[in-house]
Amino acid sequence: MTQNNTYTTETVLISGASGMLGSALKEALREAGTGVVQLVRRPSAHCCEMQWDGKSALDDEKFRKGFSAAIHLSGANVAAHRWNAAYRREIRESRVATTRNLARALAALPQPPAVMLVASATGIYGNRADEVLNEDSPPGNGFLADLCRDWEAAAQPARDAGIRVVHLRFGVVLSAGAGALGKMTPLFRLGLGGPLGSGRQWISWIGMPDLVQAVLFLLRAPHLAGPFNIVAPHPVTNAEFTRALARALHRPAFLRAPAFALRLALGPMADETLLSSARVLPQRLLDAGFHFAGPTLDQALPAALEAADH
Ligand SMILES: NC(=O)c1ccc[n+]([C@@H]2O[C@H](COP(=O)([O-])OP(=O)(O)OC[C@H]3O[C@@H](n4cnc5c(N)ncnc54)[C@H](OP(=O)(O)O)[C@@H]3O)[C@@H](O)[C@H]2O)c1
Repeated sequence: MTQNNTYTTETVLISGASGMLGSALKEALREAGTGVVQLVRRPSAHCCEMQWDGKSALDDEKFRKGFSAAIHLSGANVAAHRWNAAYRREIRESRVATTRNLARALAALPQPPAVMLVASATGIYGNRADEVLNEDSPPGNGFLADLCRDWEAAAQPARDAGIRVVHLRFGVVLSAGAGALGKMTPLFRLGLGGPLGSGRQWISWIGMPDLVQAVLFLLRAPHLAGPFNIVAPHPVTNAEFTRALARALHRPAFLRAPAFALRLALGPMADETLLSSARVLPQRLLDAGFHFAGPTLDQALPAALEAADH
């Protein structure tokens, strides 16, 4: 904030900023000299935080000062619990309802932000075997596909107010010691890794450095709106991913996890996440001229593993 307590023109409001993606984005924005104000669910701890439960009105004085952009990343972690009815509701509400409420609040500001970036996921395409998917592909079926469709639609109040809305359809994010890679790496290090199910399902992944740069690129591209697949240009099958991770860690990876065992352990989540196939291309990012620093797994994986070791 400036000394007279108004936000600088480059101030970005972020929700879910304590999460895996939010932490990396927050750091990159700050390094670039951009002001960051976080929406937090707990009581705010300093002037650059604002408490919000995702439901109540957002009309305090701090909020009314406005922002140049908003990035909405909140959501109950999809892999944190088994998908019983109550947790499915929490996964949905923490995304769809909060997006609608935030979009309405931003739209009602005296000076709405120029852009709202909202998280979404390649889960919107559902389970599509070997089909090559881009942003023009129709959504698929299933809990995650329905969720993502409703999540994206929930930003409509912002669009109606003339705010540029971008849907960040994230693939599997490779991050140091966190997310999917954080769960797999310890097993692989012990030589207990292996393909999941048939191993033929496609994984559309992205390294964290490219994810951060892609989000900054979209933040600063006034002509770009709508859905963007935030994935590397070279998706791989689960078997290829397994081989690449084993190679990078210098370990064998022969212990296949059969689909029935994954279903037993995780319930329906197994079919929609680990066993689901989505061969997704970042077509609109490529068309817009975005350059990937880690376009292949053999380039991106060692960097992610090395970062985890530090
Ligand atoms: N990581 C991936 O591979 C990936 C892939 C596809 C899509 N995405 C999507 O991208 C977004 C960010 O991902 P992430 O990996 O950074 O997620 P994350 O690490 O689980 O963080 C999400 C953040 O959302 C907030 N949150 C947690 N539970 C919530 C609830 N019940 N209601 C409202 N807010 C809640 C928390 O922030 P506060 O405590 O600060 O509020 C949390 O830090 C998510 O919506 C996720 O679904 C991620």
